[in-house]
Amino acid sequence: MPGSGLILAIESSCDETAAAVVQRGARTLSSVVASQIATHARYGGVVPELASREHLRAIVPVVRAALAQANVTLADLDAIAVTSGPGLAGALLVGITYAKALAFANGLPLIAVNHLEGHIHAVLLHEREEQEALKGTGFSPYIQPPNEEGALAPEGNLPSANEPAHALVVSGGHTHLYLCRPAHNAWSYSLVGRTLDDAAGEAFDKVAKLLGLGYPGGPWIDALAPHGNPKAIPFAFSQIKPKLHLAGKPPRTKAARTAPIANLDPRFLFSFSGIKTAVLRYVELHNLRPQAESRREALFTGPDAPARPTVEDALAQCDPQTLDLIASFQHAVVGDLMKKTFAAAESLAARRILITGGVAANRELRARFTAEAARRNLRVAFPTLALSTDNAAMIAAAAWPRLQAGSFAPSDLSADPSLALGR
Ligand code: KG4
Ligand code: ZN
Repeated sequence: MPGSGLILAIESSCDETAAAVVQRGARTLSSVVASQIATHARYGGVVPELASREHLRAIVPVVRAALAQANVTLADLDAIAVTSGPGLAGALLVGITYAKALAFANGLPLIAVNHLEGHIHAVLLHEREEQEALKGTGFSPYIQPPNEEGALAPEGNLPSANEPAHALVVSGGHTHLYLCRPAHNAWSYSLVGRTLDDAAGEAFDKVAKLLGLGYPGGPWIDALAPHGNPKAIPFAFSQIKPKLHLAGKPPRTKAARTAPIANLDPRFLFSFSGIKTAVLRYVELHNLRPQAESRREALFTGPDAPARPTVEDALAQCDPQTLDLIASFQHAVVGDLMKKTFAAAESLAARRILITGGVAANRELRARFTAEAARRNLRVAFPTLALSTDNAAMIAAAAWPRLQAGSFAPSDLSADPSLALGR
């Protein structure tokens, strides 16, 4: 049984180098994130080779900062956790290699964590911290012992074996729906739905790029959308009818590769490549491209571009038609995420919904999911804004049940860029 319950986690799957120290999956002692946004922004997206190089530069100072901020040393830890996939192979390898070296040199067990599982545990970590703040004393262990029927005692607002949660992981790389259930020191995940092509965050990023806005695009669209009319352009998502021949075949895109689509209900499948094309068509039809070019120049690349453009700077460059387009795009994407998430929750009779991943930081998404959940008498939970996007605290939280179960990584652990979660 663990002693201190302290886990140092490392996350380097994409463009953030992160390290955190979390105790028993319930108390964040430190969470340090070194963002590479400035490096990738000028290319309008993540450049894998640059990401690996930046991780190499940042990993040692970031881990040191996480230990220092938590006021602990390596000798205080019970384990090291690391993201083993999915993500960029070279980026993942930087974190894995360093975590392995630290674990080996300090005689600590190494725990491999799936990045998607980490996102789900970001919500659980936040919920536990809220509960503890309410109680004001100590904190209860992550997973409680089974009760007489073998089920786990419900942890307040947290999912239990009898009351599983339905999770939407919506980020730059994923748009996946899972049924999540804790059972005997482990969590099980059943894949319920996912995107067939682009992830929702990818659509935000591509549309923002098309409109001459910065990278990552989600926060820009989030900030500008309230200034436009969300009903101005009726973007529509049609019902997906997966062709039978796709079942069992390798999916076409990076986002889709992390899970097979066979046996999934088509009502819970997403597709975001169509709306991206619809926005492109709108831009061309209404001759908005020259405006996007001059906006990019004024905000990001031109000689007079501000060092750090603000929302006000961007607003000053946007005409009402562009703002309506931004608002309508966001409204449609959030509407589609809601429709399928709530339909799946209903069909699974799940009363708890967890929304997580970078896009879960979106304000319209939070407001509309919260209102709809209240209308349906369901519980909905989000991570804090800091825990929505990539971080290592969520990886440490997901590692805690594995530490309790003694489920450690093999010494030949390697990166798995297409690592799937659940079946
Ligand atoms: O979870 P994350 O940090 O990395 C991945 O695992 O992909 O998610 C990053 C994604 C990006 O696509 C970014 O544009 C999007 O999350 N994002 C947002 C917002 N903040 C970040 N999308 C919409 N609204 C936001 N406020
Ligand atoms: Zn992520």
